[in-house]
This record gives sequence, structure tokens and C-alpha cells, in this order.
Amino acid sequence: MHPFKYTQRLSAAILALAFASSLQAESNAFVLETNQLKSAIQPTMYGLFFEDINFAADGGLYAELIKNRSFEFPQNLMGWNVFGKVEVRNDGPFDQNPHYVRLGFTGHNDKRTGLENEGFFGIGVKQNEPYRFSVWARIPQGSKAASLRIELVDPTTYEENHPFAQAVIQVESSTWKQYTVTLQPRKTVAKARLRVFNTTTGTVDLEHVSLFPVNTWKNRENGLRKDLAQALYDLKPGVFRFPGGCIVEGTDLNTRYNWKNSIGAVENRPLNENRWHYTFANRLYPDYYQTYGLGFFEFFQLCEDLGAEALPVLSCGLACQFQNNNMQAHVPVAELQPYIQDALDLIEFANGDAKSTWGKIRAEMGHPAPFNLKLIAIGNEQWGPEYIERLEPFVQAIRKKYPEIKIVGGSGPNSEGDQFKYLWPEMTRLKADLVDEHFYRNENWFLNQGTRYDNYDRKGPKVFAGEYACHGNGKKFNHFNASLMEAAFMTGLERNADIVHMATYAPLFAHYEGWQWRPDLIWYDNLQTVRSSSYYVQKLYATYKGSHVLSLTMDQKPIAGKEGQHGLFASSAWEQKDNQIIVKVINTSSAPQDIDVLFKGLKKNEQIQGSQMITFNSAVPDAENTLANPNLIAPNTSNLDFSGQQFKTTIPAKTFAIYIFNKK
Ligand code: AHR
Repeated sequence: MHPFKYTQRLSAAILALAFASSLQAESNAFVLETNQLKSAIQPTMYGLFFEDINFAADGGLYAELIKNRSFEFPQNLMGWNVFGKVEVRNDGPFDQNPHYVRLGFTGHNDKRTGLENEGFFGIGVKQNEPYRFSVWARIPQGSKAASLRIELVDPTTYEENHPFAQAVIQVESSTWKQYTVTLQPRKTVAKARLRVFNTTTGTVDLEHVSLFPVNTWKNRENGLRKDLAQALYDLKPGVFRFPGGCIVEGTDLNTRYNWKNSIGAVENRPLNENRWHYTFANRLYPDYYQTYGLGFFEFFQLCEDLGAEALPVLSCGLACQFQNNNMQAHVPVAELQPYIQDALDLIEFANGDAKSTWGKIRAEMGHPAPFNLKLIAIGNEQWGPEYIERLEPFVQAIRKKYPEIKIVGGSGPNSEGDQFKYLWPEMTRLKADLVDEHFYRNENWFLNQGTRYDNYDRKGPKVFAGEYACHGNGKKFNHFNASLMEAAFMTGLERNADIVHMATYAPLFAHYEGWQWRPDLIWYDNLQTVRSSSYYVQKLYATYKGSHVLSLTMDQKPIAGKEGQHGLFASSAWEQKDNQIIVKVINTSSAPQDIDVLFKGLKKNEQIQGSQMITFNSAVPDAENTLANPNLIAPNTSNLDFSGQQFKTTIPAKTFAIYIFNKK
């Protein structure tokens, strides 16, 4: 053989060998211990955090379609166009909402008197669906009976003055009464308006003008928008934190969320300012208020419907510390008692006997059985000794009266730093049951925090990752890659389920036309819902949660995107009920990765059977689900054909995959 040819062949063989061994070096050998159950995964592990931001309550989940229905906005007619002879008065039947309107006669039959409501970015109604219109009305003493014409009109088409749903109400009594009528639109309109005319020569007073779909979630009258509540239900949340967030604190104490104002008859729940209407000057919504129509009773009821533990958050007497450096803005510790009493009363409202003061109100509202509240959070993003000196008396009072209730304390607005370092030991000292951590961070943070909880103190409070989301670097929107980072990070929550007991993405909801903060989990306009890719990540984790952690390692280390792990993150759980092994793998790298899972701890003749494989990825990492293409990014489920003790597969680049096996 020609020596040159020989050398060529030799180097080709060496190259091939080197290539093969490099391939081997690239393969990712996972070891899964099948017979060593680690800690239990709490039913509360993956949940939801609701805050009235981005028009999440009024204009969102709360199905009321009329804005400023009680004429209580500081500009009483905000949201209304009025015509003819309309007067705002303030001696109405509801003492906490005293304003109402008087519709008089113009003096000429052809000149109408009436009102037109613009809704929340218009009124969205669907063809042939029934809508319940209601109004409190009376004829002032001495006036003739009046007739009201109720109409839905579509200002966006040539049919502007052609109502597409109509009804009539006769008002004959001089006593305030509620009148109800059903409107059935003959077409679907996203931005309709509601008109109410006085068609007679008499005078009529109107208060609490309301329009709801009849088909709300569970068909409740003061109900929730069905598609949005369904999206919550489909996610299978284990815990539901409400009502905020910053709105719990208020810009000042007067505007903090006061749960006692959010119960009882909706007509008499006083209006509150919503701080999100002005917090970001570049996203100003001066017509954003809280009617409290979706109040604490409705929140508890929703938790029950969702099968989620309720986690109410209450003010600790500190108004938003970002907005108030000045201690004068907060409640002095010596005057904290009413705030503490609010917390105790809330527990009684939720759990008390139907004969107790607050339990009775719950029973009168239609829920005689207790809601079985187990958790309460005191304070949101509070910090410093001023938080601790306020939290401490709350803890003492709650422990004394309700020792069974678990208390959630906070660790400030940041996931690290001085305040965080100060607050955690304080929470341990106060024996808080859980500590709420918040992190809105970029891709790198999420990639580097896979082992965040591996070394947390196992003897102190448990962790509640109460607000988190990947805020992409220069890409603060719901793109797929951000959700992939969240999925990767969440393997560390699952692996540390002995200490991480709850986790909730934030914020939950956003109206496309009224958002202040993004990314958000669920988007909507007046008619449609869009589930973001982050929504699917949460749903996949909650659906394939498992009951116990299983050990899954690579080179005896947790698989958390560390050196030599090729951007892979992985965790595993056992589901007791179905005897299933669930393996979650996230490939954050831009190359496909071979993985080789060795199921250890099996008897010689034992086999693992493949059941299902779910893959979640996107051809374009920056892509997002939109109104025009709401299902662009969604998980794919297929059968997993496998039987044996060693499972080999290739996970595509930038993919979240779940492999489900049965242990026979
Ligand atoms: O989720 C939006 C806001 O982020 C919350 O209100 C607050 O707790 C945090 O700063």
C-alpha cells in the first residue's frame, strides 16, 4: 500500500474514532432512582396569583359589561355619554354608593333623554347569547310612570343607529326596585354600546345599571366571564392567591384593598381607586377603578370551584413602600389593632359558624358551609424593620385564635439583596409557615437559578414562589423562549418540593387594550382568550405534577443546566394514584440532545412501559400566541413506545418534553 494512502486511512480511522468518542461525550446519561421516593409534592405546588392589574377584574374576569355602573367614579359620568335632560344626584338607596341619575323630559317628544355606556373598551356580546340587563329604578314622587328602552348598538358599522338587541322596562313605583330584562343580540359585536332611553314624558331615577352575560361561569348572576374562568380551571391550580400584589397595600392606606368593602350586596360595595391606573405614566388608564363586584366572597367561591386552596393577602398597615418613604404614610404600630382585627374577622368570615358575626354574612351571601381557609398572607412586597414590627403582632394574634392557619410572610420585592437577606432570618424567627419570594428576572437569571433551592435551610419556613416570570432581555412579552426558561427553572422547584410548597406565575390576566404590565399568563379582548406559552408551561407542570419526587441525576448531580449538562434541566416525579413515573426534560440549548435514562432500582424482570410523551416547542423562539393565532404554540401529545430499563431518546433544541411511563 502506498505509504501516503496508509497514513490517510489511519488518520481517517483516528478521526472517526475521535468523532465517535466526541459523540459519546455529548450523550447525556441520566440516572433515575425508581424505588427511592423522596419528598411528597404538595397539592398546592402549582397555583395562580390573581391581582386586579391590566383590567383583570372589572373589564376582565368579572363579567359585568358596564363601566361605572353606579355613577361613583370621581367624575360621575365617566364612561357614559348622556343626552337630553340628565341630572346626577347623591341621595340614592345605597349609602356607600349614593349617586344615581335622574332622566327627565326634555319638553319635546322628539328630543330624547338617555345614557350610553361605552363598556370596557366597548361591550363584547355574542350572537344569540342571552344578556341580563338590570337597573335599580323609581319614579320620583309626583311623576308619571316611565318607560325605558334598552338597546345595544354597534358604533363601528353603518348600522350605528340600528339597535341589534332591544327591550323595554316599565317603571311605575316610587320605591326603588330592581328591574331585569334579557337582551338577545342578533349579531356578535366586540365593541357595542348600551343605551338606556326614557321614552316618556315622566321622570325616572336610575341606579346600578348592569349588563351581564347569563352564561357566566357556573351561571352565577354576579358571575365571572366563562372563558376566562375556564382557562383557570383547565390549569388545575392547587392554590389561588388574591387580591394582589400592590393593590393590597394601596398607594396610600385609604386605597388599600379593604376586604370588608368587597362583601355583601354588590350595589353597596364602595368603589376603590385602582393604583394601576396611574402607576406607569406611559400606560395611563384614568378610568380604571375597582367596583369590588368580584370580592372576597366570589374569590373564595372561585377557589372552591377550582379545587384550589385560597390564599388571601391582607394589608399589614404599610402602604406601598415604593411610593411612600415617609413613615407618616403608614399605620403606627400602636394603632394596628383594626388591621389585625380585619385578619381575624376574615378567618371568621371564611371558616366561622353560620351564627358567628362574619360567618353569618357569608351564610347570607349563599354559602352557609365554611370555605375551610387554611392560609393567610400578611403584607405583600414589604421590607425593613417596619414590616417585621407590624407582622409580629399579626402573627401573635392569629396564632392565638387560629393556630391551625398557616401564615405567609414576605421577603421583599427582590429575590436576593440586603432586604431579602434581612427578611428571611426574621421570618424564621417569627416562625412564618411560608415565605413569599418574588422574581421578575431575565433569561440568564432563570438559567442560573436551577439549583436555587437545593441548599435552602430545611428546618425553617417553606418557600412560596409567589410572583415570578421571565422578563426577556429587551423582550418583555410572552415569547416562547421566556416560557422555556420558566419551565427549566421549575425543575428546581419540583426537585425541592420538600421545601417549595407553592409557586404562582405573575401577573395572571391582561386585557389587550388595557394592560399596564407584561408578560402575563392569559390575555383577552372583549370576546376571545389567548393562553400564552407560559400558561402552557404552568398547565403542564400542574397536570403532570406527581405525588412524590424521584431522584434524577447526571454524573450524580442535579440536572440544572450546569457545566457539562448541555443546557439540559430535568426532574422526575412519581404519581402514586396511577403508578406513573413522570420525567420532565427541558433542552434550553440550540442543538438537539441525546438523552439516555437509566431506570435504577428495578428487579431484573421488571420493565418500564412508555405511556405518553408531551413536547412543547416553537419553530421561532420569539414567537407568541396572539389573538390572530391563539394556538400557534401549544403542547403536542403522542404515545410513547417503549419497554425496558433504559430509555433513549433525542430531545429537540429548545424544547420542553414530558415523558410518562408506567411502572408495571
Ligand atoms: O405582579 C405585578 C406586581 O409586581 C405586584 O402587584 C407586586 O407584588 C409586584 O411588584
